[in-house]
Amino acid sequence: MATVEEMIGRTDPNDIEAILAITNTDADEIAHIVADESDAIFTWDYTKAARPKLDKLYEKAKTSQWNGTTDLPWDADVDPEKIAAELHAEHADDPPIIDFAGTGAEKWGDKEWIEFNRLSADWTLAQFMHGEQGALVATGKIVETVPWYDAKLYAATQVMDEARHVEVFARYLHEKREGSFPINAHLRMLLDDIINDSRWDMTYLGMQIMVEGLALAAFGFMHSMTEEPLLKKLLRYVMSDEARHVAFGVLSLQEYYQELTQAELRERQEFAVDAAVRMRDRFLQQEVWHRLGVDVPAMMGILLQQDPAENVFQQMLFSKIVPNTKKLGLLDAGDGWLREQFTSMGIIQYENWASTDEEYGSLDEVEADKVAG
Ligand SMILES: [Fe+2]
Ligand SMILES: [Fe+2]
Repeated sequence: MATVEEMIGRTDPNDIEAILAITNTDADEIAHIVADESDAIFTWDYTKAARPKLDKLYEKAKTSQWNGTTDLPWDADVDPEKIAAELHAEHADDPPIIDFAGTGAEKWGDKEWIEFNRLSADWTLAQFMHGEQGALVATGKIVETVPWYDAKLYAATQVMDEARHVEVFARYLHEKREGSFPINAHLRMLLDDIINDSRWDMTYLGMQIMVEGLALAAFGFMHSMTEEPLLKKLLRYVMSDEARHVAFGVLSLQEYYQELTQAELRERQEFAVDAAVRMRDRFLQQEVWHRLGVDVPAMMGILLQQDPAENVFQQMLFSKIVPNTKKLGLLDAGDGWLREQFTSMGIIQYENWASTDEEYGSLDEVEADKVAG
């Protein structure tokens, strides 16, 4: 059984020095190479709809395609500075939740917080873009490694979806924001683990359940916050696809996990917690604080000490992951270890929310727009 240290490379998940030791040391690198240990599998069983739910998803994916070039209002005027200032003004009267004493940020005025808002949005959108490329590569891998015909066909549609997502986020950052960030090192390590693993279901668990489950919630949050019409439609259309992707993970792993032993399921539970910790580390936005000259270790200490119950944003990011792991049977497999972990992370309250295999149809705005003409 893996120890916490083996999983995340440190004994204490809140060890700030260890978290900050993981940095993107080569911000100028163009290519990043990851060994892929898995077998490519051909199947000679071409029975379509042998798995009816996957076949239904495949048929839906074919009719819900959209074109990132022509279906989004790219002529919209976007003023990142103004958006950052408006966000700041909206929250000017909120009572402070966090005491930033000792970080440098306690001395910030309006100007610095507006700059933070602007960089934080650049950073968030850049991580979405890098994560989308991770999904593109991971799903290309699933086409090769999954043994089932219906799943290979479906995965091919997801490869196209992810190409479109990388395209639209990259174009938005380049044309409308003129700011970007390299990939966050915690996110990169998670993507590396997902690509490197030799077991085909681990790609699904890491990408479709954890990374995309979190992305679906994060896109939904940003979609509800933004009034900027181009970004709003872009996010809503990406979410329409993303819901299918998470459903693909749930429908595939639900079947496969029924064949696994308790010991094998425990490895999947540990992989899920490893991914959750890395994603939490990623959302500390260490690169943004660093760029603004804040005392980063002091800031990390304050953010990590925050009571999970008060960190509503971080909790909400897991609102899709928890019900989906429950649907897979992972939440309560074995001795309930994963339930304990999610309880201590303050996210167990989502367990009875809708799982994404049940709600993906209702999240499809692309189809709704087509029907509306
Ligand atoms: Fe995507
Ligand atoms: Fe996706």
